[in-house]
Amino acid sequence: MNYYKIIENKNLKKYNTFNINVKARFFVSAGTLPELKEIILSQKYNKLPVFIIGGGSNLLFTSDFNGLVIEVSIKNIQKYKETQTEIYLKVGAGENWDDFIDFCVKNNYYGAENMSYIPGRVGASPVQNVGAYGVEAKDIIHKVETIEIATGNVKIFSNKECKFAYRDSIFKNEFKNKYIVINVYFRLSKIPDFKLEYGNLKNYLKKFSEINLENIRNSIIEIRKSKLPLPEDFPSAGSFFKNPIIRLGIFIKLKEKYPNLVSYFVSEENIKLAAGQLIDMCGWKGKRIKNVGTYQKQALVIVNYSEATGKEILEFAGKIQKAVEQKFGINLDMELTIVGE
Ligand code: EPU
Repeated sequence: MNYYKIIENKNLKKYNTFNINVKARFFVSAGTLPELKEIILSQKYNKLPVFIIGGGSNLLFTSDFNGLVIEVSIKNIQKYKETQTEIYLKVGAGENWDDFIDFCVKNNYYGAENMSYIPGRVGASPVQNVGAYGVEAKDIIHKVETIEIATGNVKIFSNKECKFAYRDSIFKNEFKNKYIVINVYFRLSKIPDFKLEYGNLKNYLKKFSEINLENIRNSIIEIRKSKLPLPEDFPSAGSFFKNPIIRLGIFIKLKEKYPNLVSYFVSEENIKLAAGQLIDMCGWKGKRIKNVGTYQKQALVIVNYSEATGKEILEFAGKIQKAVEQKFGINLDMELTIVGE
C-alpha cells in the first residue's frame, strides 16, 4: 500500500499562512490511518524529526525543516451518536475547520458557531484549543483520536486528558510532537444556548430580526473580516501573542494609571488583558519595519508585507515584547508555534 508520495525539498510557502519561503527535506500528505502508520514506522524516515502541518495558520518557520513534514489530510464528517439533546460528530483531522462549523450551523447543531471563520484544520483545534468570541474548542471536544509517532499505536485522549487551557493543551507541552491527531470527536447540542457576551457581537446581531445560528455565524464572519487580515492579502498567523493573564493586585495598579484598559476576569484573582490594546498603546499599531509590520486594524496581528523571513518576524516581535514590557511590566507570550533553528 503506497498511495502517498514522499517529496524531497518541498517548498512550504503555500503551507503556512505567513508565506515564509522555506523548504522541508521531505514532505508527505497522508489521507488514511494505514498510510500514516506506514510512513512514521518506515525505516527510512523514523529517525528523522517529524513535524505535523495542518492549515499552517499558527506557525512561524525560522529556517528550512531538516526532517519529514507530514500533512494529515484525513477527511470525513460523520455522525456517530445522538441523544435527545446532543449530537456527536467524528471529524477527520484534515477537514477545513470552517467547513466543519458551516456543517454544524446548516444542520442546527449548536455550540460551534462562535468559532466561525477561524483559518486552519480540525486536527489543529485540540492542539492549541482554538477559540473566539467566548467559546473554545475544548467546550465542544468530546475526545481526540491520535496516533503515537514512536509506535504507530492509536491512542484516544478524553477531553480531560487533553489538559486544555487558554490556547494550550497537552499536545503543546509534555506530548509535543509525540502524537498525531487523526480524528476529533465533537459533542454539540440540539438545543439553542447562545453565547453573545463577547465584545460587540450583540450589536452586530441587532440588524437581524431573529437570533439564530446562521445570523450568529454571519455576524462573526463580518466582525472577523473587518478586524483581521485575509491571509491572501496580508500573510499573517492571526494573533501573534496570547492575551496576558495577570494577578488582580497588579491589574488594580495598572488600571489606576491606564483607566481605559480592557479586561476580563478569568478567575477571582486573575485578569486577562487585551494584548492588542497594550501593543496599540505602545504606539505599535500599523507600525512597519522593512518587510514586517503590525496590521493597521489590529495590533496583535503581525503581517509579512513582503517576502520577510521568519527570523525578521521574530526580531520584530521581540521589539514589541520589549516595548510592552517597558511600558506595562508585562511579558507577552507568543501564541504560535516556532519551527526551525
Ligand atoms: N484592541 C485595541 N487595539 C488593537 C487591538 C485590539 O485597542 O489594536 C482592543 C479592542 O478594541 C478590544 C480588545 O482589545 O477591546 C480585544 O480585541 P479583540 O476583540 O479584537 O480580540 P483579541 O483579544 O485581540 C482574541 C483572540 C482572537 C479572537 C478574538 C475574538 C487571542 C490571542 N486572540 O483577540 O483569536 O478571534 O479574541 O474572540 O486570544 C487567534 O487566536 O489567532 C485569534 C485571532
